[in-house]
Amino acid sequence: MKQNNSTSCLQLARPIIIAILTILFIVITHCAGQVEAKRSRMNKHHGHNHHHAPAPASAPHYGDTESSMFNVLSFGAKGDGVSDDSKAILAAWKAACMVPSATLVIPQGLKFLVKPISFKGPCMPNLVLQIDGIVQAPPKVGSWKKSSLFQWLNFKWIQNFTVQGTGTVDGQGSEWWSRSQMLHYDVQGTSKHVLGMKPTALRFYSSCNVNVRGISIVNSPLCHLKFDNSRGIKISNITISSPEDSPNTDGIHLQNSQHIEIEHSNIGCGDDCVSVQTGCSDVYIHHISCGPGHGISLGGLGKDKSVACVSNIVVDNLSLESTLYGVRIKTWQGGVGSVKNVSFSNVQVSDVKVPVMIDQFYCDKKFCKNQTGGIAISGIKFDQFVGTYAVQPLHIACSHDVPCTDVDLVDIQLKPLPGLGGSREALCYNSYGKAVAPLVPASIDDCLRSDGGSIKRIARSHDVGCQ
Ligand SMILES: *[C@@H]1O[C@H](CO)[C@@H](O)[C@H](O)[C@H]1NC(C)=O
Ligand SMILES: *[C@@H]1O[C@H](CO)[C@@H](O)[C@H](O)[C@H]1NC(C)=O
Ligand SMILES: *[C@@H]1O[C@H](CO)[C@@H](O)[C@H](O)[C@H]1NC(C)=O
Ligand SMILES: *[C@@H]1O[C@H](CO)[C@@H](O)[C@H](O)[C@H]1NC(C)=O
Ligand SMILES: *[C@@H]1O[C@H](CO)[C@@H](O)[C@H](O)[C@H]1NC(C)=O
Repeated sequence: MKQNNSTSCLQLARPIIIAILTILFIVITHCAGQVEAKRSRMNKHHGHNHHHAPAPASAPHYGDTESSMFNVLSFGAKGDGVSDDSKAILAAWKAACMVPSATLVIPQGLKFLVKPISFKGPCMPNLVLQIDGIVQAPPKVGSWKKSSLFQWLNFKWIQNFTVQGTGTVDGQGSEWWSRSQMLHYDVQGTSKHVLGMKPTALRFYSSCNVNVRGISIVNSPLCHLKFDNSRGIKISNITISSPEDSPNTDGIHLQNSQHIEIEHSNIGCGDDCVSVQTGCSDVYIHHISCGPGHGISLGGLGKDKSVACVSNIVVDNLSLESTLYGVRIKTWQGGVGSVKNVSFSNVQVSDVKVPVMIDQFYCDKKFCKNQTGGIAISGIKFDQFVGTYAVQPLHIACSHDVPCTDVDLVDIQLKPLPGLGGSREALCYNSYGKAVAPLVPASIDDCLRSDGGSIKRIARSHDVGCQ
């Protein structure tokens, strides 16, 4: 399976890590000496305690269990929703980052206004960011600097890190959504290349062994939670929420990332609930409810004839309500690469326009130029889909040049919404595989074509560019 070498965690940052670890080693060795002295004094009275963070008695922040808690209020944060708390939170981060198993606390009951900031690692392992309060982005579009438009909260080069809590991260996106057609920053300084950029709320870059749990992420200007060049990610029990008509507000966006689990979470937004992009493999998404939104998507892949590789994706136990699509693979014409070994199972749909979709003619505007070639799609299983659709039960449109192979439809029972007149039949184009009953509507039964082996050889000859 495809593993791009450049994506392995923290590889780019290696020289920086070595420098920082060297410094930390010196600091810790120094501290450990003092702690041992302190411990041997304490042990006479209290016995040994392995849980306490090692630190010199003279440093107020590192002395005992309390000391591995770094409350942003102690670093000057106001939490009044008006004052700019960015500097205080960054100072607390820097302090917590230096201590093993530290917890950075954003306390409950307060609102912290935070400008775009970068939380940079490497940090000592097992750092926890405990968000119990509300973290808010600046509401006025004009107060963002052009250089910070990629993301609001940027986590970079971090290992063994957890974000958790009962709090909310609020991107305050409404002004961005309504002005999306009007406000265009000219990033290059020329009027020729104008970009309408909007920030992602939380972005992790080149990080590994990251947990995100409990928190809510709401109203992002663009995507809510994004992972790039990362591995070993677990997302559980989170809530993502933005209005159905907020443009391009993906829930979770994965790119060039591997070994990911997303589970027991509620996602409702204006675009894909989960979007899996090129370079992703070994992704397990389960017990998710999605809606409003555009469903769970692999792609759009292969834009401008680019190479895209996606493999070993499992989506299980998914419930979708009033979404545009259920599960979808979307690729542009002319792309190179492959999507393989994908399974979608135990999917419950309710008022979903098109529950099952493969679209190799993806186009985000009215017309896209026809291109030859396409991404090879194989080994895609749709198993146990039940519920109601509003437009078409199933739409599998594979490339003219590259057939989809081993597409399996097993136990699909989809009914038109009550009162829906003239719903469309299931559609399959250039797609090969098997269908296993029960299948409702009956048009699903003879939708796929069966292959004697020659089609697979054609398809395989197009599967290039991914290992
Ligand atoms: C980081 O997390 C991984 C996976 O949970 C674990 O195997 C590893 O031992 C941890 N490393 C440190 C330094 O704690
Ligand atoms: C899920 O997160 C919420 C806080 O957002 C918390 O109250 C609840 O206990 C968590 N549930 C589990 C099963 O962890
Ligand atoms: C398909 O993906 C699953 C889940 O990631 C994995 O366990 C399995 O080994 C993969 N199969 C192949 C043939 O790679
Ligand atoms: C998902 O799992 C839960 C229990 O974990 C179960 O009650 C529910 O029926 C499952 N949903 C689907 C669509 O399989
Ligand atoms: C692309 O090809 C299809 C069918 O081959 C044709 O109907 C369509 O008009 C073409 N589109 C463009 C933009 O050339």
